[in-house]
Amino acid sequence: MIKKVGILASGGDVSGFNAVIRAIVKTAENHDVECYGIVDGYNGLLKKEYEKLTTAANGEAIGILAKGGSIIGSSINSNLFNYKVVKEDGTVEYQDVSDKAIQNIKEFGFDCIFTLGGDGTQKSARDFSTKGVNVIGVPKTIDNDVACTEITFGYNTAVSVAMEALDRLHTTGETHHRIMVLEVMGRYAGWIALESAIAGGADVALIPEIPYDIHRVAEKIKNRQKRGKNFSVVVVAEGAKPINGEITVMGTRNNGTGVDNTHLGGIGQIIAQQLEELTGLESRNTTLGYMQRGGTPTAFDRVLSTKYGAKAMELALEGKFGTLTVIKNGKLDSVSLEEVVGKNTKIGAVSGNTQESNIRKVTMDHDLVKTARDIGINLGD
Ligand code: F6P
Repeated sequence: MIKKVGILASGGDVSGFNAVIRAIVKTAENHDVECYGIVDGYNGLLKKEYEKLTTAANGEAIGILAKGGSIIGSSINSNLFNYKVVKEDGTVEYQDVSDKAIQNIKEFGFDCIFTLGGDGTQKSARDFSTKGVNVIGVPKTIDNDVACTEITFGYNTAVSVAMEALDRLHTTGETHHRIMVLEVMGRYAGWIALESAIAGGADVALIPEIPYDIHRVAEKIKNRQKRGKNFSVVVVAEGAKPINGEITVMGTRNNGTGVDNTHLGGIGQIIAQQLEELTGLESRNTTLGYMQRGGTPTAFDRVLSTKYGAKAMELALEGKFGTLTVIKNGKLDSVSLEEVVGKNTKIGAVSGNTQESNIRKVTMDHDLVKTARDIGINLGD
């Protein structure tokens, strides 16, 4: 019997966090289950920072469906199995503090912890599950790269924001006869770039899964020029790379060995400069950045988040722990966290979107790739 549950949000924020929280709380209340928010993700589990969540008149979980961010905070790069501890003398040590968190869970009496997050978060959730904690994951990320699900919450909003940016770039690009480049997020997966390129009528979409040849892209733009179209719109995923080349990075963080330290970005500016040289058309880059994560969720994300939250609570009531809510063949479902985390088997090992993780990338037989090619969007190859 489930009586008391905790909800934690972890990783970069997305639109839809609060909608999931609200759905879990509402479903829980229908079954007399008490809900607590764990403040700032896994950190709150360590520091015992909990916040009661209810939909009573002055409850924390009311009026939050349309609200961006996360009412219970979120933490980036807090892997309790490899946790950064700054000692009194200023030196940094990485410790496995998971047992302390487990003790806190037992002490407070949580019967289940819901982990709202992406690949890294679910990796930690799986590790806690292996150590006997009742965990249920909900797949979050604007990157849409969590394995075993067709869609993560937050992704649709990010695509919509990118689409709106493309609509705006179209009109200014057309007016000034320029190439307008839009750099979007997505880490090592090209979902945001590809889908927003189709939604926003872009001429080119460069994604990490298809290394590009800049000359092919310039050719496409020159062909448009020949047909009297003196402007073009190009979408570039932050993880896009040239054939035989590397991903462009802004820098490397120093958050320890248990997380992905790469800060991606900068490829948009490079592409704009190269295309200006190759085509003679003036080019401008816009990096969309955190606009993709903030603000109110789309109707699609509100509904998806609500479905995921309600399903997560249902799984808890059925005692189906160690699972992740997913959309499979268009239907709400669940899979084991073990299946999701895949080959990333070592407890405490690297989390996040790294080579060791099991992220879902764009495949060449995907409808989006086929459609993009059919309508003449250049994919850089
Ligand atoms: O994973 C979500 C995401 O927004 C990526 O698309 C992006 O590369 C990254 O997070 C940015 O992370 P941070 O918030 O640490 O700058």
